[in-house]
Amino acid sequence: MEASNNILMFPFMAQGHIIPFFALSLQLQQKGYQITFLNTPLNIANLRRLLPPSSAIRLLEIPFNSSDHGLPPHSENTDSLPPNRIYDLLVASTSLKPAFTNILKGFLDAGAPPLCVVADFFFGWSAAVSHEFGIFHVIFSGSGGFGLACYYSAWINLPHQNSDSGEFVLPDFQEAGKLQVTQLTPSLVKATDDDPLSKFQIKNLTAWANADGFLFNTIEELDKVGLSYFRRKFRRPVWAIGPINLPLNGRPRAGKSGGIDTESCLHFLNSKPPSSVLYISFGSQNTISASQMMQLAKALDKSKKSFIWVVRPPLEFNINADFRAEEWLPENFKNQMENENRGVIIEKWAAQVEILSHKSVGGFMSHCGWNSVMESLSRGVPILGWPLAAEQFYNAKMMVEIAEVCVEVARGTDFEVRSEDLREKIEEVMSETGNGKEMRKKAFEIKKIIEEATSDEEGFKGSSVAAMEDFLQAPLLIKNLATNLPDNY
Ligand SMILES: *[C@@H]1O[C@H](CO)[C@@H](O)[C@H](O)[C@H]1NC(C)=O
Ligand SMILES: *[C@@H]1O[C@H](CO)[C@@H](O)[C@H](O)[C@H]1NC(C)=O
Repeated sequence: MEASNNILMFPFMAQGHIIPFFALSLQLQQKGYQITFLNTPLNIANLRRLLPPSSAIRLLEIPFNSSDHGLPPHSENTDSLPPNRIYDLLVASTSLKPAFTNILKGFLDAGAPPLCVVADFFFGWSAAVSHEFGIFHVIFSGSGGFGLACYYSAWINLPHQNSDSGEFVLPDFQEAGKLQVTQLTPSLVKATDDDPLSKFQIKNLTAWANADGFLFNTIEELDKVGLSYFRRKFRRPVWAIGPINLPLNGRPRAGKSGGIDTESCLHFLNSKPPSSVLYISFGSQNTISASQMMQLAKALDKSKKSFIWVVRPPLEFNINADFRAEEWLPENFKNQMENENRGVIIEKWAAQVEILSHKSVGGFMSHCGWNSVMESLSRGVPILGWPLAAEQFYNAKMMVEIAEVCVEVARGTDFEVRSEDLREKIEEVMSETGNGKEMRKKAFEIKKIIEEATSDEEGFKGSSVAAMEDFLQAPLLIKNLATNLPDNY
């Protein structure tokens, strides 16, 4: 049978997973691969709206009804669930296994098995299913190697259980250095290895060992420490193929953008000196607490720095509600900042890539979601890290300790922050001298490293380009080596 060029993409049902998978799909399609994008019906319907009708990407539904799993009706995406129900969606997603098996069987019956399955790290179980049909299977992570290595290691080892000091090291990832209990999400802090979530994670995460390889949206030269963890742990190829740039018109625009368009943002930036504006955004899924928001506004005011701030209602309120500046920011703050041409406050969504690409932007206060980190580094912008959830804490740690382009300004939403501390850190990063200057230089070097990793000129292939080619060869090589994989492969 002739080698198929169909690749089956299968992300977990969360916007933060679907979007990087979709971006990777577009990239593979450009290389001539036929993409089948698999997800539950509502997510497929949403993607269909984003995709031009002419697109050759094939969207395929896998049957799923959230009501069958005790979830609210129409809950097929973590975005439509409160945080305390996300675990339930995770558990419900393992019920996709029989349907996934049927879908693969359908491909085989039609004489067209996919060349490769690219699945989410929450779908470790899909490796064994793919192998039943002799299909090559890799896990793709939209997160970086270091962040995911810490996340993985923390879940399977629960090392904080034995720490009284609030500090610990990861037993199988000691190169990561010391971690603190404050860098664990609440569910990890509570984990005892006997509660349902730990049981789920320990069983399901270790199923990664069945995959034939791992794809990371990261850069080899930048993320060696994290990538080497997975190489050592699983003895499988680990390919750093980032940055997988999200298509500009395919980005999630959660809600309206508060009436301020990209043009006015760029106009504001044009009126400012180079590297003088602080850009602030905590991503589309996260927000800070009401008291933290108030302190941040005061810090901005006192720092006298110019800024663009993408605001969302504080944690205590519905994140998708309209923003009430008169209630959540200091009195008259918004008007004053706008009248003085000091700051632009945008609701919900901003053209982040365009903003970060502007020479007037000198710092990015970010929750350190990996897409934001990559976008900042690709534009040479230093980071003021304020990690809020999941592996963001470790991304921030990596940016501070390994990349040396970041100052961690705060951690999580449970802690009081003081405007004085925030102001000091803002001034440190935005300074034209000292640490600020050093970090800007470092960030510029990393920008060059990323450009080199993705360059593909005659006689020179960057590491990300070479890794992608290597990955795409792998299923063919394996097929030639053995049609029947040994049990322990
Ligand atoms: C999902 O299940 C519920 C309860 O069984 C049912 O009422 C509903 O019609 C189902 N939805 C779909 C789209 O099949
Ligand atoms: C993943 O967790 C679920 C729920 O705890 C369990 O039923 C399933 O067997 C686990 N998957 C694997 C591959 O162990």
